[in-house]
Amino acid sequence: MENRKNFASNIGAVFAAAGSAIGLGNVWRFPTEMGNNGGAAYVFIYILCVLFIGLPIILGEFIIGRHTHKNNVDAYHQLAPRSGWVAQGYIAVFTGWFVLCYYAVVAGWTLKYLCVSATNQLSAITDSATYFGDFSSSPWSPIIFTVAVLLITDAVVCMGVQNGIERFSKAAMPLLLIIILVLGIASLSLPGASAGMRFMFQPDFSKITSSTILSAMGQAFFSLSVALGCLCTYASYFNDSTVLTKTAGSVALLDTLIALLSGFIIFPAVFSVAGAQPESGPGLVFITLPNVFNTLFEGIPFLGYLSSTLFYLLLIVAAITSTISLHEAVTAFLHEQGMSRRAAARVVTGVCIVLGTLCAMSFGPLQDFTPFFGMGFFDFFDYLSAKVMLPVGGILISLFVGWKMDRKVIYDEMTNHGTLARPMYPIFVFLLRWFIPIAIILIFLNELGVFSRL
Ligand code: TRP
Repeated sequence: MENRKNFASNIGAVFAAAGSAIGLGNVWRFPTEMGNNGGAAYVFIYILCVLFIGLPIILGEFIIGRHTHKNNVDAYHQLAPRSGWVAQGYIAVFTGWFVLCYYAVVAGWTLKYLCVSATNQLSAITDSATYFGDFSSSPWSPIIFTVAVLLITDAVVCMGVQNGIERFSKAAMPLLLIIILVLGIASLSLPGASAGMRFMFQPDFSKITSSTILSAMGQAFFSLSVALGCLCTYASYFNDSTVLTKTAGSVALLDTLIALLSGFIIFPAVFSVAGAQPESGPGLVFITLPNVFNTLFEGIPFLGYLSSTLFYLLLIVAAITSTISLHEAVTAFLHEQGMSRRAAARVVTGVCIVLGTLCAMSFGPLQDFTPFFGMGFFDFFDYLSAKVMLPVGGILISLFVGWKMDRKVIYDEMTNHGTLARPMYPIFVFLLRWFIPIAIILIFLNELGVFSRL
């Protein structure tokens, strides 16, 4: 096995980790969830979840990864040999594999919409709901685009940590930031912008229920890429000089900013167009937005063309930096069990093509195949990962770092062996030991209806 590579620079490390976090979760899932959960009150709960639950878990994963410089499974083997904790490593890696399968389907839709928009065909769509329905339910097209996304991801991962992942992230992240700022400013200047802003910032706390809180927490986990070994694997490529607390803070901050900016882009635009609904479900960016682009720029088709193409470009770039991290977490594990990197990547891609095809077909040929508690492949993978596995993984990581790991290791990693100040250390340990596990369990029990029956 060749020598294990690190990221070449600290900024490369930040971009790679932020690239993992920022993705469809921010631009597609966050506005959708916010639309379905009533807007501003949801945003408020979401931010609390990021700060007090997500951020400490990111730091926990960074500590595990950088201390061991190993993939997610071997990291647990090293830190807690011959104990049940290793199971957490396996669960994370395999759940990440599942996430990649259905995530690639939505990334595939995005790629399709980028192609449609860039070839100037988006403006010709008169009924965007029917168009999306026909496309997503057709037997081949969604599969082809899903496979295309997986092959692009495979190519970058095969190029390795520095030449593939780091280089791609360093080019993609600045591009993404620029596009999102341009689109955000454009959207804020639209006539309906203030209604969109009110929806995002005027909270109606009566809308908060236990399932709002569970959704916000699941979304925070999903958006920050925690609990499935992605950040832990990336942290295993961090240098000794990377400041973990600062990097974790930057990732959480960038990720939340991009989610909010996506809301800025989408809701003012949605409210500017009569009849467009904020709670239109997963179709928001594929059904509502094409309508919005077409209606808003009826008189100036070039602006419509430009903004829709930029938007889907933004979305696909963000999605691919995330698929890369999901892929890398599994590839690194298989590779370090003795396979070559390329062979490991091929296995990961191959399995994803099979399962991703089944997920893509959930909207078409397999529409009525719903054996998983009434859900098809796609919905089941999404539910199981965001609402069950991510919170479970979150509890396990916080318990592991909070109770099982040697305090000296945590201290050394947070302070780079005593060279940095440590103001956050006691708060961090408290959150991981007590607050996060208890909060997650309470939210779960509440969702199961335990409290209402007391
Ligand atoms: N965070 C990414 C997004 O927002 C998706 C993602 C990448 C992810 N790696 C993950 C989600 C690990 C959960 C766990 O689109």
